[in-house]
Amino acid sequence: MRTLDSFPRVSLGVFPTPIHKLENISRLLNTQVFVKRDDLTGLGLGGNKTRKLEFLLADALAKGAELVFTTGGAQSNHAMLTAAAAGRLGLKPILVLKKRGVTACLGNQLLEKLMGTEVRFVDTDDYAEIYAEMDRIGAALGRPYYKIPCGGSNALGSLGYVDCAREIAGQGLAFDHIVCAEGSGGTMAGLALGAKLFLPGTRVHGMMVDTDPFEEITPALMREAAELLELEPEITPEDYRLRDMCGPGYAIPSKAGNAAVALMAAREGLFLDPVYTGKAFAGLLELAEEGAFRPEDKVLFLHSGGAGGLFAGTV
Ligand SMILES: Cc1ncc(COP(=O)(O)O)c(C=O)c1O
Repeated sequence: MRTLDSFPRVSLGVFPTPIHKLENISRLLNTQVFVKRDDLTGLGLGGNKTRKLEFLLADALAKGAELVFTTGGAQSNHAMLTAAAAGRLGLKPILVLKKRGVTACLGNQLLEKLMGTEVRFVDTDDYAEIYAEMDRIGAALGRPYYKIPCGGSNALGSLGYVDCAREIAGQGLAFDHIVCAEGSGGTMAGLALGAKLFLPGTRVHGMMVDTDPFEEITPALMREAAELLELEPEITPEDYRLRDMCGPGYAIPSKAGNAAVALMAAREGLFLDPVYTGKAFAGLLELAEEGAFRPEDKVLFLHSGGAGGLFAGTV
């Protein structure tokens, strides 16, 4: 096995992020619920992408990039954090975002304006077109560039969450379940592979907040990340549990998601977002309702951030 520590990595975040118990939610659900505070990763407003970017931007620097492209929706937390991280490392970020009717400079767009980030909007959902647009811009600017895929969800980015599983293993509690949001797949794939390596007995649940075929994406990304680690583990459907929590559509708030945001805010003073973590927490509530957790079980909810999106005014 190639160790995680042998991969080039830049330091962007503050780790380990804390884990603490949610006392009121635990009482309410009659199980032991904890939260992993990846909303406190220490870059921008926090969030899961910091872990991925530590690996991805180290690769960009190693390859001599001066420009860094990435993409996502107009309110992409990933794009905003990529801009924040790139700026810190002396790289110029260029965000090629899907505009899709968004005009107000709120939430993550406001943060991008504060950072002076170059944002180019495209009117397509086709990623092949978007990556071709990055190539056109890069060629026109004549400087070496690095393209980070949507959500930072390739094998290298997923290593950030393999490492998060290792971090959890070192934090002293054995969890029966981990619950996270699944948007582009890298977080879930990394955690599921990491659990196989470092958290035996922990079941990882990915709460799907988009309509992509995650039953294919998740094991494929797990395998690719395992390959980077020079491992060939047998990946079976037992290694990843998926639940559709998308509701009316990606980035369209759901009733259950908004209720979960309100519950967490009122009972625990923590703020989730309507696009990812609110829907993921709603999935955890559904599992509890269905009796998936015993009173003595330890359930870890990954708070993967998203505060910027909370201020886009959609809850
Ligand atoms: C706040 C937040 N949580 C969860 C996710 C989902 O992570 P992934 O794209 O790795 O599936 C994202 C993705 O953008 C996010 O911004």
